[in-house]
Amino acid sequence: MKKLLAANWKMYKTRAEAEATARDMVRLIAPSLPADREVLVFPPFTAIEAVGLAFAGQARFGVGAQNFWPRKEGAYTGEIAPRMLADLGCAWVLVGHSERRWVLGEEDGLLAEKVAFALAEGFKVCLCIGEKIEERRAGRVEEIIDGQLAAGLSAAGDIADGALAVAYEPVWAIGTGEVAGPADILHAHAHTRTRLGTILGEKGLRTPILYGGSVKPENASEILSLDNVNGVLVGGASLTGESFSRIALA
Ligand code: 13P
Repeated sequence: MKKLLAANWKMYKTRAEAEATARDMVRLIAPSLPADREVLVFPPFTAIEAVGLAFAGQARFGVGAQNFWPRKEGAYTGEIAPRMLADLGCAWVLVGHSERRWVLGEEDGLLAEKVAFALAEGFKVCLCIGEKIEERRAGRVEEIIDGQLAAGLSAAGDIADGALAVAYEPVWAIGTGEVAGPADILHAHAHTRTRLGTILGEKGLRTPILYGGSVKPENASEILSLDNVNGVLVGGASLTGESFSRIALA
């Protein structure tokens, strides 16, 4: 399966900063990107267009949105509809990132609606899942993965091939410098793979599963070589072209 090298820029970068980083990424990554890899950047809304323009002509560099509201249009002050994102050249959206679940208060029902709506609008969805530290300590990793996958996919109809990716991002490893060890990643990804197979059949076996949580140039190669790791979703270490290029080419 091909590997997805994804950058989540969270609430960082003005347009000019985003464009400069995107251009650095193309310069440093494009000439050596292995044929089975794709780069995907999730900038803040305001920088999506600038990044898309910097990626113009690069078939294996894509742009996605970190968030959206699951309606076509309407009286939703402050929100952004998927069709506005399509207009900016976005093909992907993130749903269920732990910061949206635990900082912004998005719950399973809304996340299920967002997954279904974005898929129906023709977007590719990266559904983020992962346990908190107290859930891990209580031995509930598998239960949390099962619950978040089942809930997130509960309203989605037939999912087109290639339209779904899952990112396993243990909450305790995000932005902390604390990486899940290879054994933990292997276990969580194998469990996620089995569960996706149960829910989606054959398609579940072809759904990319990304790892996220303190991925750095120093650990990317080992993580990317693990079974059932079909890419990475990178926060802090994706903010410069230099650092992200070492991950994308690891
Ligand atoms: P860090 O790579 O900064 O730990 O963030 C991971 C993440 O949240 C990606 O979505």
